[in-house]
Amino acid sequence: RVMRDLTGISTLESRLKSEMGIARVVVVPGDSDVSPWVKNELGNACATSMKHRLSSDNIIAVTGGTTMAAVAETLTPEFGEKNLLFVPARGGLGEDVNNQANTVCAIMADKTNSRHRVFYVPDQVSSEIYESFIKEPLIYEVLGLIKSASMVLHGIGDAITMAERRSTSPEDMEKIIRRNAVGEAFGYYFNEAGEIVHKVLTIGLQLDDLTEVDTIIAVAGGASKAKAIRAYMKQAPRSTILITDEGAAKNLVQGF
Ligand code: F6P
Repeated sequence: RVMRDLTGISTLESRLKSEMGIARVVVVPGDSDVSPWVKNELGNACATSMKHRLSSDNIIAVTGGTTMAAVAETLTPEFGEKNLLFVPARGGLGEDVNNQANTVCAIMADKTNSRHRVFYVPDQVSSEIYESFIKEPLIYEVLGLIKSASMVLHGIGDAITMAERRSTSPEDMEKIIRRNAVGEAFGYYFNEAGEIVHKVLTIGLQLDDLTEVDTIIAVAGGASKAKAIRAYMKQAPRSTILITDEGAAKNLVQGF
């Protein structure tokens, strides 16, 4: 505690919590843009928050990304003493297989000796495919589990970085740039005011569903994500817990 106060981390945490109006902010030392090991610290901090929030039965919906993959690596069998079921929050969203929510859930289940469900649906679907897909019994069943999640763990990304990392069509790319998107979470792109300027149509958790979720933990760090985090937090449910690093936090406070 003393060490943390000397480095000003507690001050950063309380300042961010009140500026963003969310439930809790945890800041780990360092900047994950510069030092890759900081992502493991984000993972550890997320695991600690999870531990405090688990009940006897938990459906945990998880998004993809390298930060969520780092969270998965920090989980231990001790978590599995509670009843856990990991489900991908949404369809793949065009991510590399290592960063896909399906993969992250499989690792989380493995590390905690728990169960997981896969959700193999196309990344970006047309409205016709969407309508017929959700009538498929297997998809319908997993969708039901996703919608009844008691905990959601998710990443936040820089809009352009994410649009480039996914197979975004030139038209959508143009729209994302023209509408000044700065942040992305759950397939939604946000401008600096926190308005949704583009949405990837995929099957799974939608932003509105978050109001039903008891525990929401957002994990995102690195100075380059400050704008994205600020934008998304304007939309985020007030119950959100943000796990971030000093790199992002220092940039974030400058904007308030
Ligand atoms: O694509 C899934 C996702 O969680 C996005 O919603 C988010 O922007 C991104 O991954 C974060 O990825 P990373 O942790 O690798 O920066």
